[in-house]
Amino acid sequence: MTRTALIFLGAFAAVAMSFTALSLLPSLQLSTIEPTPGTNEYTYDEQLGRQVYIREGCMYCHSQQVRPDGFGADQARGWGDRGSRPGDYVYDDPHQLGTMRTGPDLHDIGNRQPSRDWQLAHLYQPRSVSPGSVMPAYPYLFEVKRKANVRPSEVTVPISSKYAPPGDSVVVATQEALALYDYLMTLKLEPLDSDQNG
Ligand code: HEC
Repeated sequence: MTRTALIFLGAFAAVAMSFTALSLLPSLQLSTIEPTPGTNEYTYDEQLGRQVYIREGCMYCHSQQVRPDGFGADQARGWGDRGSRPGDYVYDDPHQLGTMRTGPDLHDIGNRQPSRDWQLAHLYQPRSVSPGSVMPAYPYLFEVKRKANVRPSEVTVPISSKYAPPGDSVVVATQEALALYDYLMTLKLEPLDSDQNG
């Protein structure tokens, strides 16, 4: 064998081995993971909301991973009745696990706070429902309109008087805000069927 062929073969073997170990084997391993109960493919609106979640960088302050019992205080804080499992993420690409916890973990927010009025008011102005919150407000996911111009199909968000727009104006949720709410409601840690506890 010539020296060039040997170098080529060596380089090919190195690339092939790292591709197998770092890409092929992990993806084969992950392809057999079954979704956990309550984990479904996203609807169009949920997917849109997920894109808003990604775009707004919610992940930089919120994780989506509840630690199992015995690994920290996540469950004692009320962030979920079980630890997160691989099957919770099968439809997440890219996943939003996050590492920062400036705010609470959101993997079970759908069970913890299902109220649409609360969630929308919180997005419009976190301090209107959670005094002293450092979470940024997302007013551009809403429209402020005269009450008379609100169409029946539109969703008006009740805002506490301190933060409500003046006069006869009201806060109306845009499609993005409603989709983000739909996405947040998919974040639920349902009990597992099997005897796997965590
Ligand atoms: C700069 C950090 C920061 C960013 C960015 C942020 N949050 Fe928060 N979030 C917080 C903090 C702090 C709290 C706790 C205080 C409160 O309830 O507002 C919180 C609370 C929450 C809660 C209520 C959690 C509970 O357990 O009651 C939800 C839901 C939420 N955030 C959703 C979002 C969404 C959706 C986004 C992106 C659009 C986002 N947050 C972006 C910091 C952040």
